[in-house]
Amino acid sequence: MTATITTPQTTKAAAPEPDDALLTVRDLSIRYGGFTAVQDFSLTLEPGTRVAVVGESGSGKTTACMAVAGFLGPDATVEATAVRFDDTDLLARPRSAVPHRIPGVAVVFQDAMTSLDPVWTVGQQLTAVIRNNDLTTDGRRPSRRAAAARAAEWLRRVGLTDTARVLAARPYELSGGMRQRVMIAIALSGSPKLLIADEPTSALDATLSRELMQLMVALSADVGAGLLMVSHDIALCQEFTDHTVVMHRGRIVEEGPSATLAQTAVHPYTRGLVACVPTLASAALDRLPTMAAVA
Ligand SMILES: Nc1ncnc2c1ncn2[C@@H]1O[C@H](COP(=O)(O)OP(=O)(O)OP(=O)(O)O)[C@@H](O)[C@H]1O
Ligand SMILES: [Mg+2]
Repeated sequence: MTATITTPQTTKAAAPEPDDALLTVRDLSIRYGGFTAVQDFSLTLEPGTRVAVVGESGSGKTTACMAVAGFLGPDATVEATAVRFDDTDLLARPRSAVPHRIPGVAVVFQDAMTSLDPVWTVGQQLTAVIRNNDLTTDGRRPSRRAAAARAAEWLRRVGLTDTARVLAARPYELSGGMRQRVMIAIALSGSPKLLIADEPTSALDATLSRELMQLMVALSADVGAGLLMVSHDIALCQEFTDHTVVMHRGRIVEEGPSATLAQTAVHPYTRGLVACVPTLASAALDRLPTMAAVA
């Protein structure tokens, strides 16, 4: 199927856009053949702020975010009133089977093993990113030695202090948590304006998951990056993001400030998610609360 990127004549009144928005998505719909994966998705992210997209498996979270990351292939039919990052109109960019990287956007996926190259060492992969992004003031690439020093510095920033061993290791020689730290270093070493993190910690245990979230939030604040995070975990969203968008079957069913969404939620799916967050009270139950199916 050929790629179609259309800007439909819509009768909907366009919502006023804050001038300083880093990311603006308006009325985004994405179809694969006759199947609609995302319908009327809108979101605004201000510079340096953190937005969570939460929802059940298959609700369209990754698909919506990949439209922003430039990772949708030509088999997707995309319609929107606007998809704008910084000063770039993302709807006007061509799409092909090989994804186009959007300058200023970095992505961390759930499974670092599929993002990292198994053949190259961590040092080779990290220094390659640093040499491409960390240009000197006269626009030249840093020397290999300078890039290697920066790579070691980034490993320390993400908590990998045994830098010589990690730089020389191939991804499969590291633990899952170490690989995800490497991914965070690779993503943030390019000083992105927006970090998209697609379930960055859901393959890790709860303690490590919180620790890596804290690290990712602190380092993205250091480099001045906004965060668009996909998660199943409404408790993590509450703790680490400013605004939460809840998706169900391709649509946004609810959104609001992350800190108060648990109290204000009205949609049955959101209320179900909130009811499943373990609490001290639920710890005493024989059976923990589970989600009922929501039509
Ligand atoms: N390349 C594709 N071709 C066809 N259908 C696709 C493609 N990518 C995604 N879809 C469909 O779009 C829907 C949404 O998928 P998506 O990966 O966005 O869900 P998700 O909310 O991220 O789920 P999960 O939490 O399991 O990661 C699914 O039904 C999926 O099968
Ligand atoms: Mg997904």
